[in-house]
Amino acid sequence: MKPHESFTTLVTADREPRANFKTLLSSVLPRPIALVSTVSADGTPNLAPFSFFNGVGSNPPAVVFSPCTKADGTDKDTLNNLRQVGEFVVNVVPHAVCEAMNEASSPFSPDVNEFEAAGFTPVKSRFIQPPRACESPVQLECKLVKIVPVGEGPLSANICIGHVLCFHVAEGYLSPDDTVDVTKIDLVGRLGGEDYSTIRDRFALAKPNPKR
Ligand SMILES: Cc1cc2nc3c(=O)[nH]c(=O)nc-3n(C[C@H](O)[C@H](O)[C@H](O)COP(=O)(O)O)c2cc1C
Repeated sequence: MKPHESFTTLVTADREPRANFKTLLSSVLPRPIALVSTVSADGTPNLAPFSFFNGVGSNPPAVVFSPCTKADGTDKDTLNNLRQVGEFVVNVVPHAVCEAMNEASSPFSPDVNEFEAAGFTPVKSRFIQPPRACESPVQLECKLVKIVPVGEGPLSANICIGHVLCFHVAEGYLSPDDTVDVTKIDLVGRLGGEDYSTIRDRFALAKPNPKR
């Protein structure tokens, strides 16, 4: 391990939001992708990917994701739906569904059924209204806890916090120790721009000795 000798310091308050966006996205990676299903008040299903996403606790199990405010200052359909119906499903994204996931990121109008538009099969959820996407091997049914806005205007964050009510794990993916088989699930991650990563190249690191 060798320390770097010099650094360029970019003060975010002195930069355009777009420049900060690009530096942030190419520094914090790979980001997991949540393909989020929601429904509008009139029941139209919506599906869109979000890589400002993570699991953040287990008692109760919780997730966060952030639909940013659009460049024109308006909100994304997912956020509008969550304000109306505070429920969502996180569908994980394996390599086999990444093209359909990308299609779901198109700016469809709110009245479009994005399951149909992107080619996903909807299946009824157990506890909530939004359907799950059957092509995803693990789906998390979530109840919205809170929406936390960070900043305002284009590219500002709207952190949606959800409590996971249940996991649906595809047949053959769950191991006896309660973990999902990492090789089978074959998820992709988002890098910067149009780049993605797989989780096919892995290594293990033993935990440090706690008695020091
Ligand atoms: C892999 C991927 C990750 C994305 N992550 C985000 C994100 O974290 N936040 C965001 O606001 N938009 C993100 N987008 C863009 C949204 O998916 C896109 O704006 C979509 O049209 C929003 O749909 P909606 O209006 O139906 O909610 C991402 C797109 C892709 C392809």
